[in-house]
Amino acid sequence: MNARKYRAETVVDGRGQTSPGQKAAVTPPPAYRLIGRLTSRVDGREVVTGRAKYTHDVKFPGLLSGKILRSPRAAAEIVSIDLAPALALPGVMAALKLAEGRVRYAGEPLAAVAAVDAATAEKAIGLIKVESKALPFVVDWQKAQEPDAPQVRDGKPNVEPLNDYNRGDVAKGFAEADVVVEHTYRTGFEIHHPTETHGSVALWEGEHLIVVDSTQNVHGVRDGLARALKHPASKITVIKTYMGGGFGSKLGLNDYTVVAANLARESGRPVKITLTRRENAMCVGYRPSSYQTCKAGAKKDGTLTALQLTNVASGGLGAGDDVAEPMVDIYKCANVKADETTVYTNTGASRATRAPGHTQGDLGLEGVMDELAAALDMDPLELRRKNYSTRNQGDTGVPYSSKALDQCYELGAKSIGWERRNAKPGQGPANGPWRRGLGLATSIWFGGGAPGTLADLVLYPDASVEVVCGTQDIGTGTKTHMAVVAAECLGLEPGDIAVKEGNSDYPWAPLSGGSLTTPSVAPAVRDAGLKAAARLKEMAAARLKIAPADVVGADRKFSSKNDPSKSATYAEVFRDLRRETVFHGERGGMPEGFAYNTFGAHFAEVEVNVETGHIRVLKYVAAHDSGQIINRLTAESQIIGGVTQGLSAGLFEERIMDDATGHAVNPNLRDYKIATALDSPEITAVFADVVDPRLNNLGTKGLGEPPRIPSSAAIANAVFNAIGVHVREIPMTPARVLQALKRKEAGS
Ligand code: MOS
Repeated sequence: MNARKYRAETVVDGRGQTSPGQKAAVTPPPAYRLIGRLTSRVDGREVVTGRAKYTHDVKFPGLLSGKILRSPRAAAEIVSIDLAPALALPGVMAALKLAEGRVRYAGEPLAAVAAVDAATAEKAIGLIKVESKALPFVVDWQKAQEPDAPQVRDGKPNVEPLNDYNRGDVAKGFAEADVVVEHTYRTGFEIHHPTETHGSVALWEGEHLIVVDSTQNVHGVRDGLARALKHPASKITVIKTYMGGGFGSKLGLNDYTVVAANLARESGRPVKITLTRRENAMCVGYRPSSYQTCKAGAKKDGTLTALQLTNVASGGLGAGDDVAEPMVDIYKCANVKADETTVYTNTGASRATRAPGHTQGDLGLEGVMDELAAALDMDPLELRRKNYSTRNQGDTGVPYSSKALDQCYELGAKSIGWERRNAKPGQGPANGPWRRGLGLATSIWFGGGAPGTLADLVLYPDASVEVVCGTQDIGTGTKTHMAVVAAECLGLEPGDIAVKEGNSDYPWAPLSGGSLTTPSVAPAVRDAGLKAAARLKEMAAARLKIAPADVVGADRKFSSKNDPSKSATYAEVFRDLRRETVFHGERGGMPEGFAYNTFGAHFAEVEVNVETGHIRVLKYVAAHDSGQIINRLTAESQIIGGVTQGLSAGLFEERIMDDATGHAVNPNLRDYKIATALDSPEITAVFADVVDPRLNNLGTKGLGEPPRIPSSAAIANAVFNAIGVHVREIPMTPARVLQALKRKEAGS
């Protein structure tokens, strides 16, 4: 993929920095030397040359291969599991029963073996004798609601309430409206499919358990293992090496990790379990579906009077996502009501998936907003700017700056060329069978970070520096931002800093999810860095026999600001430390009631073929308020990734279950379609120039999930603008586009 393609346009942030090859903007000089600039990944070379070691690559002497036997039946009563034939196979070192009683989805673990190699382990699980009684099951969430549907869980109904929200009086609000629109929007089952499939390696050293895990959460996996194994957390270390993504599917302890630890204990040897792509598709979660009826009412001038959502979610054996938050928080409408239920089915449990609930809710809310704008004959951008909120829950609490939101709307609209949209949906010029259109969608997310995050900065007498934090770089560039912040504080370069992360023995940091990482870790590193810099200044002052306030540091030297001939090199000052010295940093708390939202406004330009139903995304602009950007390069990458993932979900991705067998029919990357470079448009990242010091010592906010949230919705709205009918269901397959066009012809 040609990265430069994404930088075809001038991208300007508040500090006037531009990506390479772009025109420089006329703005004040940056306040920071490194922070906010483009910094290449400190580990980029390792990754692109294939030297980086992932969990799959981890080897220990005597390492065994673990495999899990999974239920072929979507519901069954297990009568017996006989491990003896597997254990009799030469090379099999341990076997475990994992199921008894009911199993409730195809893919549920039944038993596991550890053997000298993968082929032997595979053969061994085939020898395990399972006797089971098939039970009725249901994998379709609509059928699961029928009165005679098989009961998925013992003693519990298949349909349960999920969320109930009410403010104001929607009946009154709709009565006050001049225009009311109501439509149903649907989102399907989207699988995380990280590049690196799931896996763990377990090794016992006496009483101490070491687990190498592809995880977003080393501390959480350690604590989960302690509970699962009834083993002290103090005797467990969880290590994450290089990692190929998680998107929420690796946020906590997984069953195969416990299995690896138990097989290792049983066999007395280290055990590795890595999941296949098929297991990844069926057994470790997905984004729950939604079926949202959204109703919006407004005055003629566009003032919202009421918003209402009725959602039926489904998350298999887990609860679906509450999708109401965008409706509750993005607009300052006085009357909002949400009723949500969830439907249980015999499929594996869904799981947090990049911006849970928000991506689904955004499709409905921003879809109905566009249909409302059309009914009002109003520019969808104007409708949004008239109603957006800078507080949560419809204008409560301490507001954040509206300047950031205005910038996202204005810079984004300018960059895409918003004036080129069709003034009325579907009435643009035709290019053969192709119709062009522009759409937008907005999002909020909670990007404040986790108070209490710790980071240590270590100065060594040989003038080397290390930062240590028990966070996890899951492929997003966390190591690089830690190096950037430490180097900024100390007058060094990012490459000078040794970065240690991904180990539960290191100082506490939250899971790498929820867009928490940067606003948790960067302020903690900065806190430690500022303390270390102050100590070095004191030491330089002592050496130079001047007051610390008179010390200036530059070019790896400290000198007296009054007498530049008085100077000492970094090497000399560090040597005075005599031993390594640790500085503890902590990310502080945040003020009560303040909305820590991040904001995003996405703009898409598409072409839709009205004969075949195909959609091409031509151009995309994502404008974000994430406060202080730490590393411009990885922030842009995050946006490109989030937009591509939303495009992929919007156009292609959907897990399809087979009613007869209870299996997914597309548990691989051939039949489950994911966007490739060829599907990706030019993507431009734009950042707002608003830094709020109330947030933390850098004013930085998260950017992990935000760019994924409005991206399917912006494309759906662009399709609406192009063809004059909203598809209202993702993925927007050609068949669904053609159905929507038929609906338009029928005038409904
Ligand atoms: Mo995310 S769903 O918090 O990895």
